[in-house]
Amino acid sequence: MTSAALRSRAWKVLEMVTTPLLPSDYLDLVSPLRAGADLRGRIEAVHPETDDAATVVIRPGRGWRGHTAGQYVRIGVDVDGVRLWRAYSITSPTHRQDGRVTITVKAIPDGKVSNHLVRRARPGTLIQLDQATGDFVLPQAKPAKVLYLTAGSGITPVMGMLRDIEFDDVVMVHCAPRPQDVIFRDELHDLVADKKMRLVEVHTDTDGMLDIARLDELVPDWAERETWACGPAGLLDAAEEHWSEHGVQERLHTERFRPGIVVAADGCGGGEVTFRATGKTVAADGATPLLDVGEEAGVLMPSGCRMGICFGCVTPLKAGAVRDLRTGEITEAEPGVLIQTCVSAAAGPCDIER
Ligand SMILES: Cc1cc2nc3c(=O)[nH]c(=O)nc-3n(C[C@H](O)[C@H](O)[C@H](O)COP(=O)(O)OP(=O)(O)OC[C@H]3O[C@@H](n4cnc5c(N)ncnc54)[C@H](O)[C@@H]3O)c2cc1C
Ligand code: FES
Repeated sequence: MTSAALRSRAWKVLEMVTTPLLPSDYLDLVSPLRAGADLRGRIEAVHPETDDAATVVIRPGRGWRGHTAGQYVRIGVDVDGVRLWRAYSITSPTHRQDGRVTITVKAIPDGKVSNHLVRRARPGTLIQLDQATGDFVLPQAKPAKVLYLTAGSGITPVMGMLRDIEFDDVVMVHCAPRPQDVIFRDELHDLVADKKMRLVEVHTDTDGMLDIARLDELVPDWAERETWACGPAGLLDAAEEHWSEHGVQERLHTERFRPGIVVAADGCGGGEVTFRATGKTVAADGATPLLDVGEEAGVLMPSGCRMGICFGCVTPLKAGAVRDLRTGEITEAEPGVLIQTCVSAAAGPCDIER
């Protein structure tokens, strides 16, 4: 008998012994990061960065395929017994010798996962991981001049880039309320001291919000620079408009942490939402994503990026109609129709299969 056949027979015997669980369930207990297991990671450390931000050091399991600077990873974390998925940009360089990756999380008011990771996550905790993804990355050919335009936690994917690749001519414009709110401030200042970058800090508590027209004064050659921008919607909307007005929109690359929401002209409807499998019906307005409505009602809702890019929340719409919050488009229930609950709100009564 070949060794493969022997292994297969041994596994079958194990399956009989471990029924009703599978042998892999027992292996998960002793070796959760092994090759072949669902991809997971173990939190190995949590380092505070500012009062409300922390870097989480994760050792990914064997199946981890690595990342490209600027990409993000979806992680599944158990918060009060509920598995919640969120996306976080990877802040460690691709060539980190010890194989660990880091994400840097800013706790937002009432944020379930961000507060959990920043304030309560402990070394040793296992989390679910997806492979890294995203196209907010650097090009193969090195641009001659680079501008990074960031605000708040939007600095994270750019920090991954700064730690990964050096360019000859880099300017960063970063906005945060006060100096002590600038995540990675010491490291940024070290790069400046080493003459690897020019940094413009905008402290919005004292300087006010960045008026994008000020770029002419702050970075006179901004239009010649290949630019990566990440921050709140207001900053990114203004940047996209500004770059388009000057005809250089192909030089601007943006990453959004939240979807761009349009408000529909008729006030958006809303209605009763029935979660068919769970047997719950709740009232929802026409502006709240069904993902939030379901989670609020205690329904187990799959999710990932929460902004319409990963399709981790896709669910059949069984009856009624929903509105896409990004475009205002209405989708009506038909056999086989799937909706993204993170960017869909009730447009009248509706019934979804969760
Ligand atoms: C591609 C991508 C990369 C990301 N990278 C990072 C990162 O590196 N670091 C980081 O801290 N976050 C990052 N995020 C945001 C992150 O995924 C979560 O949205 C964020 O941590 C909030 O989750 P929460 O569970 O704490 O908040 P929730 O409990 O989901 O929401 C609480 C409240 O805050 C609002 N809210 C949700 N998200 C945001 C937000 N981003 N900003 C302001 N208000 C919000 C909600 O509408 C709700 O009212 C990224 C998102 C995407 C899509
Ligand atoms: S959670 Fe990513 S598309 Fe909805």
